[in-house]
Amino acid sequence: MSEHKPLRLRQLSASVFSTMDEARQRKLATGADVLNLSIGSPDLPPAPHVIEALARAVREPGHYGYPLKDLPAFREAVAFAYQRRFGVTLDPGTEVLGLTGSQEGLAHLTQAFTDPGDLVLVPDPGYPIYTAGPVLAGAQLYPVPLKAEHGHLPDLEALPEDVKRRARLLLLNYPSNPLAAIVQPGFFEKVVAFARRYGTVVLHDAAYSELAFDGYRPPSFLETPGAREVGLEFNSLSKTYNLAGARIAYAVGNARLLGLLAEVKAHLDYGLFRPIQLAAVAALTGPQESVVELAATYQRRRDVLVDGLVRVGWSVPKPRATMFCWAPIPRGFESSLAFSMALLERAGVTVVPGSGFGAMGEGYVRLALVQGEDRLAEAVERVARSGLLAHASM
Ligand SMILES: Cc1ncc(COP(=O)(O)O)c(C=O)c1O
Repeated sequence: MSEHKPLRLRQLSASVFSTMDEARQRKLATGADVLNLSIGSPDLPPAPHVIEALARAVREPGHYGYPLKDLPAFREAVAFAYQRRFGVTLDPGTEVLGLTGSQEGLAHLTQAFTDPGDLVLVPDPGYPIYTAGPVLAGAQLYPVPLKAEHGHLPDLEALPEDVKRRARLLLLNYPSNPLAAIVQPGFFEKVVAFARRYGTVVLHDAAYSELAFDGYRPPSFLETPGAREVGLEFNSLSKTYNLAGARIAYAVGNARLLGLLAEVKAHLDYGLFRPIQLAAVAALTGPQESVVELAATYQRRRDVLVDGLVRVGWSVPKPRATMFCWAPIPRGFESSLAFSMALLERAGVTVVPGSGFGAMGEGYVRLALVQGEDRLAEAVERVARSGLLAHASM
């Protein structure tokens, strides 16, 4: 068989993620205790009433055929949750679409809204699927820098005029992965104006809308007047309800765009396992105390990790949302990969090199709050003992 690997796959392979993972496996093989702060996979279980709903539905023999369409109860639950949380009214029939995780929706989005060669504006640094989806669909990427001095928001007006005109799709994510940045008031209004002016489709990924701290409540893009005319919002049950492995999320917003996405999906899958949809109904319409507790848990973890790291000499900014911290690498390291490798070797702590999220991520690492407070306190001690911050004055 030929060794040929198609261009699009070649464009995506050899990431720092696989380099780091291989290094972690090698370290584990030596018997070392590796503290994994890399992948953003929730370590806590769903609420008992959600597991119960799933268990009940799994015992129902009629739930094993192809689902084909979303259950009306699932779409109604999403509409109910959006009304309760954001005051946004959605038509469950046309303005809600189930996804096999936002990742799936993000992967297929470009096929729904672009032709090969069309320009897709992606945040840099940004969550990797924003790049992988367009690359797999043969679209052209235009990374938009998210600079600290601009509040980690894209400066859309500063883009070259031909880029603005060719931009078919704009991807946004607040609160964001990996930056843990939050949107500033008035920004979404500017996005709607831009989208109207240039005919750009907007996709806002709100996966972390419920993981916010210190009283902050992230807005929905759809709260913005005119947003529904230009775009969609994705939200997921993965992080809010600790259902990452169950693979359920949804897109809401413009009915025509949702129809196109549904058309692409109809060629690719047969819908979401009904018991999982029913578990999502229980999560979205049931008591929300577990969501409040979850945010409080991440906030306590954030305090343990960030306060601890600052105390030992690493000036890590305190995020207002998400399950991530975005930290500048200490002086003296040539790259975020080199620092991450040293941290693994000397402290037994794994983080993600910022360069894995785009060129603008170089010089930073992402730490995920996916361990309990004791383990995070231990991570702080290990970082301090490693001596890697010794020459750091950041
Ligand atoms: C910003 C962002 N969007 C989407 C996802 C994927 O979520 P899902 O589990 O719904 O596919 C993640 C997962 O980490 C994420 O960080």
